Amino acid sequence: MELALVDDLLMIPGPTTLSSRVREALAQPQWSHSSPEFHDAFVDLLELTKYAFVTRDGFPYVITGSGTVAMEATAASLIEPGEKVLVLDTGHFGQRFALILELHGAKVDTLKFDLGKAADPGLVDSQLSKDNYKAVFVTHVDTGNTVKNAIGTITEAAHNHGSLAVVDSVCGIGGEELRFDDMGIDVAFTASQKAIGSPPGAGLIVLSKRALESMEGRKSPIRSYYFSLLRWKKVMEDPRVYLATPAVQIMLALRTALQEVKEEGIEKRWNRHNNQAAGLRAGIEALGLRLVAEEGARASTVTGFFTSESKEIQSIMRNRHGIQLARGLYEHADAMMRIGHFANLSPTGVASLLTALEMTLRKMGRDIRAGSALQAATPQLEIIS
Ligand SMILES: Cc1ncc(COP(=O)(O)O)c(C=O)c1O
Repeated sequence: MELALVDDLLMIPGPTTLSSRVREALAQPQWSHSSPEFHDAFVDLLELTKYAFVTRDGFPYVITGSGTVAMEATAASLIEPGEKVLVLDTGHFGQRFALILELHGAKVDTLKFDLGKAADPGLVDSQLSKDNYKAVFVTHVDTGNTVKNAIGTITEAAHNHGSLAVVDSVCGIGGEELRFDDMGIDVAFTASQKAIGSPPGAGLIVLSKRALESMEGRKSPIRSYYFSLLRWKKVMEDPRVYLATPAVQIMLALRTALQEVKEEGIEKRWNRHNNQAAGLRAGIEALGLRLVAEEGARASTVTGFFTSESKEIQSIMRNRHGIQLARGLYEHADAMMRIGHFANLSPTGVASLLTALEMTLRKMGRDIRAGSALQAATPQLEIIS
């Protein structure tokens, strides 16, 4: 291990650095999952979930598991075997959704978009007019390709064609603007470990009235115990009902993290993420690096840049600067670097990252003027109050 100059900063695309209050919540004595204390905390957690999804009318779920559990519960509960669905593939997580849906018997059509490009709403609309799709599945921010999709436009197209709109916002909610009711979303979900700033271990899902009615009106039973949102509905209506033991500490930590989201204010939090992301991108480009996501498809929560030296950059950043970054996902491992920038990250954190990245590239022999990344980023970072 080489010299570490700063404390470890976790800037992978989840999990993320925890606040001290969230860490303290994890360290409380064990509560019974059937105690009145846990019941009250869980009811509060469900209300806070509605706040983070910006919904009055949606029905909230919080289930022990990860984002993939939220994906699979949605697929298993909403879609019946043989039903047609459309998946927008803007990266790995769209592909994962297509696979999960197929495993649950759906007939899946996929619209694939090139690396770095968001889903084209015009193409989505024309595909939807070709068939009778039960639902459209879109990733809000694809954490693999670091691309953001235009949710409101896509949900509108889905509704125009009578399809349900399902949004994987695992890398969105808490950092990226999403208004469940106003955007006409039928199902949205996220996971605890990303922009909400909690440890991994919980999936948060919200269903619209339309989605609930569709699930409740199924002709065939849901072919799963744990992934059945119909069963979990009873628990969410009355958390005293036992279905499976929840990860009590994870739920308490998540409640604390969501309280922090509410204290900051959701819109202020979106703006902070937006400005930090703009500063980060300006700094990265000033280092001569090319961003993966095209203009207009860039996210406030995760950023990727092309490099064939991801292994070396990752190693120097971790060992010399104490900052953890991610390489590209799967087949992109040697082609890009990914940076997660959400939840508790501050403008100072962004500045540290850019300075460390610049020093890393200079150490690798790049001809870069010292201070150029930070100089480019500062105007955006200074906007944040
Ligand atoms: C967009 C997206 N969807 C789904 C998932 C799966 O979540 P998890 O790894 O918590 O199962 C991830 C994880 O990174 C993700 O980024």
